[in-house]
Amino acid sequence: MIQADLVVRRAGLLCTMVARDGDPLGRVRDGAVAARDGRVVWVGRDADLEAAVKLEGDLIDAGGRCVLPGLVDPHTHPVFAGSRAADFFERLSIPNPSVPPAGRDPVVPSPLGRGRGGGIPLTVSLTREADPQTLLTNARKHANQFLAHGTTTIEAKTGYGLDLEQEDKLLTVLAKLPNVTPIRVIPTFLGAHVVPAGVRREQYVAAIVDQMLPAFRGRARFCDAWCDPPAFTAAETRRILGRAKELGYGLRLHAAQIAPGEGPTIAAELGAASADHLEHATLDQARALARAGVVAVLCPGANFTVPGSPSPPIAEFRKAGVTMAIASDLNPGTSSSESLTFAMTLACVRWGMTLEEVMLGATRHAAHSLGLKGVAGCLAPGSYADAVVFDVEAPEEIPYHVGVNRAVVTIVGGRAWTAP
Ligand code: NIG
Ligand code: FE
Repeated sequence: MIQADLVVRRAGLLCTMVARDGDPLGRVRDGAVAARDGRVVWVGRDADLEAAVKLEGDLIDAGGRCVLPGLVDPHTHPVFAGSRAADFFERLSIPNPSVPPAGRDPVVPSPLGRGRGGGIPLTVSLTREADPQTLLTNARKHANQFLAHGTTTIEAKTGYGLDLEQEDKLLTVLAKLPNVTPIRVIPTFLGAHVVPAGVRREQYVAAIVDQMLPAFRGRARFCDAWCDPPAFTAAETRRILGRAKELGYGLRLHAAQIAPGEGPTIAAELGAASADHLEHATLDQARALARAGVVAVLCPGANFTVPGSPSPPIAEFRKAGVTMAIASDLNPGTSSSESLTFAMTLACVRWGMTLEEVMLGATRHAAHSLGLKGVAGCLAPGSYADAVVFDVEAPEEIPYHVGVNRAVVTIVGGRAWTAP
């Protein structure tokens, strides 16, 4: 008999996300899952559970509803202060935000020094002023929303500090987040978000390469850089990520979000774990990403709120065989949402992604981009005991319910989470 300290029973449909019998979602009708010490120990049909598993611990009755692995969000910016709601409305008043009215900087994403006027610089200045405890409280609120919506693992970036001391503060907040919430946090250093106001580009790139990257080694699993005209050039990106790679960081890129460029090529060249956004990636770049095994992390929320953003080349990604993941891209400027299921809806409605693509994109493929293939984003012996009960009968209904939350029970590490 297998010993378990948690069992989830009566899953009308259990989506394991481990392909079986030609089904990529690994659906088990009338399924059950058993776990011990935070890891799955048995997955199968409910009818076979009692013969296989001895439970001493918690029993969760899914009541015939759909059970999925905890969702994995591979691109979030949860450590910041203040709101950019004013940007949200200002953006809507500009017909094409990439061509702002004379005398105004682009509103979104706006790295161009509008200071208190909005954009990333506003978030940077409010985040720099905020004390670590306030930032931790804010980040915890985001974590609770993620958990409430069924997300149990997040990749979480810095990027609103933009100097050694301030980025250190944000990494410390990320390191403390697991003390105040059970969500799993994979920290990413995004000092190369934009060049901060008042600092020369060369000086800032040198500070990242010579000071920040060595100082944060071991504290951030990944290093990210935004390679696009408003942020960093291809040469700067190569220098920053090349050094990060030498120091042992995994790599991620914000690439070709605003304009065509070398970002996706660099991701492939350096063997990055992910290239993100990718609205302007080309077929050749898609092929390079596929060859190099770089996961395309798509951000439908940011695409949705920035009017005029083209769709990423989904057909090219499919043709080239690129692994696609879906992220909320939670951030104060372009995607103020922790709901990965809403991002899935957007990816289906606006880009024509299939059920299978968005389901795997928010679980297995997202985990793959974080180096957690087979550990998170799936339910199989040895994987994390992270699961969500959705109040739906079939996975199709997850993207189909728009703007409402159907996640009713979230389990992380074998324990049911309760909203504070
Ligand atoms: O992922 N692309 C750049 N960074 C963010 C936006 C951050 C912000 O506007 O504060 C993104 O969309
Ligand atoms: Fe981002």
